Amino acid sequence: MNEPHSKQTAAPAIAHGLRGVLAAETRLSMVDGNAGRLVIAGLPLEELAPNATYEEALHLLLEGHLPDEHELHALRSTIAGLRDLPDLTTTALREAARRRLPTMDALRIALDTLALEDDDPNDTSPAADRRRAHRLVAAAPVIVATYRRLADGHEVVPPRTDLAHTANFLYMLNGDEPTPERTRALETYLVTVIDHGMNNSTFTARTIASTRSDVLSAVVGAVGSLKGPLHGGAPGPAIDMVFEIRRRAARNGRSVPDEAEAWTREALERGERLMGFGHRMYRVRDPRADVLANAADALYRAGDTSLLDDAKAVERVILQLLEEHKPGRRIQTNVEFYTALLLHGVGLEADAFPAVFAIGRIGGWTAHVLEQRQQDELIRPDSHYTGSTDGTWQPVHERTPSRAAPDAPDRPGGPSTQ
Ligand code: ACO
Repeated sequence: MNEPHSKQTAAPAIAHGLRGVLAAETRLSMVDGNAGRLVIAGLPLEELAPNATYEEALHLLLEGHLPDEHELHALRSTIAGLRDLPDLTTTALREAARRRLPTMDALRIALDTLALEDDDPNDTSPAADRRRAHRLVAAAPVIVATYRRLADGHEVVPPRTDLAHTANFLYMLNGDEPTPERTRALETYLVTVIDHGMNNSTFTARTIASTRSDVLSAVVGAVGSLKGPLHGGAPGPAIDMVFEIRRRAARNGRSVPDEAEAWTREALERGERLMGFGHRMYRVRDPRADVLANAADALYRAGDTSLLDDAKAVERVILQLLEEHKPGRRIQTNVEFYTALLLHGVGLEADAFPAVFAIGRIGGWTAHVLEQRQQDELIRPDSHYTGSTDGTWQPVHERTPSRAAPDAPDRPGGPSTQ
């Protein structure tokens, strides 16, 4: 009865992984994978990322234009005024820290608790949605900083309203005011990743919003999507790879490039994917990698550059071997490789990297949710069924026993698994 149906008609063409499918119209960002170009609401990434504050980029996405001084001041105050967390959120974070959950899981759990403070969850007016968008943007870094303090066994540092978005996050993480260099480096990162076309997590957020569900649900779903190593979970493994190659080089008395070659060949032979390389959209270098490489250069230049130098050597070797491995596929460095170096340079632990990505991307997610709301069209693709169609109902005692899992207990009256 479970055999595929023999009379099935020829399989229709399926856009596996939705490759190349245009799923939405957006004014928020454009990814040109062949030219290696990213435009965010009209501004090339290279213009926006090194110059804008996070609040400016957020205003650009939510309101469609860069803010004037008055608008920027207003948005800064709004975000700064939305930083306090409900007690229950902090309680949930304490429990998450006791259980040593990954920071990304703590962020997802804590964001969900913000529903407890929404006095009118049925109000889905544009003004209410925008308020929620601001609240989520403001709360995400506070949640992550609070969690990191708790997870590391430190006192929580309360947020400050006199600091801008990025500086406040670093202040809460470390308990002292960050240097302008570290703030600029992190700000460049957060703006760089604020939006990126119809990536998986943004598509997830839009899909949820398309059912007329709420902004919070859409963002919580997007966090779940971003967590995966094929999306936002790559930078931790990327920096671990550089550290492992360095350790092995020291142990084996080899140079970092030589060890990188041996390590990479082994990994590719095992069929592994190298984190921080390859992209669904780009056939050339991810433009975000260059912007972040420049920001990382500026950050590391002030001190010890050996990690950055070794990472660049590893990158060169990997690119060469990936070209050998998949000739002509042009697998290039993606955003995550330099994300890892930059966030490490700012003083963050690898466990926090995906959550910091979410802090950046949340501006894009919320803007997409608001855009989707205006378009108000249910996203609902189709699927091609490959199972049987001629089953008949049998009462449970008449069914043929299926093969039991090796550790499954014997069913009463059923066959022994011995
Ligand atoms: N290392 C080794 N092989 C790779 C890599 C890689 N990093 N990337 C692609 N390939 C291989 C694939 O296994 C595939 O091989 P196959 O044809 O034998 O199955 C071939 O190259 C072609 O892959 P694509 O179709 O280009 O890859 P896809 O679009 O499905 O996936 C992805 C893109 C998921 C990013 C992939 O390149 C990857 O797994 N990279 C490593 C993880 C990573 O860095 N993720 C972060 C992405 S950036 C972001 O989401 C913010």
